[in-house]
Amino acid sequence: MHSFARHRHSEASKASATETKGLILNGGWRYDLTGWFHDTFSFRGKFRELRQRTANLARIQPGEQVLDVGCGTGTLAMEVARRVGRAGRVAGVDPGTEQIARARAKAARRNVPIEFQIGVIEQLPFPDQTFDVVFSTLMMHHLPASLKRQGLAEIARVLKPGGRLVIADFKRKQERTGQAARFHAGGSSMQDLAAIVSEAGFEHLEIEEMRPPRFSAFPGAGILRAYKS
Ligand SMILES: C[S@@+](CC[C@H](N)C(=O)[O-])C[C@H]1O[C@@H](n2cnc3c(N)ncnc32)[C@H](O)[C@@H]1O
Repeated sequence: MHSFARHRHSEASKASATETKGLILNGGWRYDLTGWFHDTFSFRGKFRELRQRTANLARIQPGEQVLDVGCGTGTLAMEVARRVGRAGRVAGVDPGTEQIARARAKAARRNVPIEFQIGVIEQLPFPDQTFDVVFSTLMMHHLPASLKRQGLAEIARVLKPGGRLVIADFKRKQERTGQAARFHAGGSSMQDLAAIVSEAGFEHLEIEEMRPPRFSAFPGAGILRAYKS
């Protein structure tokens, strides 16, 4: 899913909406098509299952306010919008202009009111203590270590006290075996992630593991939930 990737580096100290040291993906509809292709023919549905389990772990309640950072083409945000209902609010940010265009088109087609905007984890365009839940799925491995720390501090800023952070990511390449070792997208060590999430002031961490099924290229994944103290 990295075939349409594009790097951008910022010299400025203050991040603008698309300037990041992260890896921007800009596939739009091609991102969705590639994801569908992998899931259908080589992941045996595990990609879809990962999204469902990520949403489940957040224990979303109707009426809650939810942000998806690095939302890509908005698939998880759409599922979350169904769960918060019309009384809730869902926002998604991503620096990929084609990703956001695709996310907006999907939401409009299904008449789901989600605020998708171009933005980066370095500087989230929301006031302090806005959200009950913040998601980050398959995104952390796109960021260098220093940016992960900066991004987690931003997430902590926009979460309400007691708010939930849910991070999902593929297993890192060094930990994969069999067909899964050939899948080209990167991943994270959940232990390393858990350490920096704790350092950022989150507590009550829980990690769910998704093991790769037999005869599948699904690389395995971890889903981490933590609460802002
Ligand atoms: C593999 S995609 C995952 C997209 C989506 N969350 C999903 O599960 O399909 C990673 C996304 O992170 C975005 N990204 C990269 N750097 C970022 C940053 N600094 N802030 C926010 N998103 C970023 C990319 O543009 C890309 O859309």
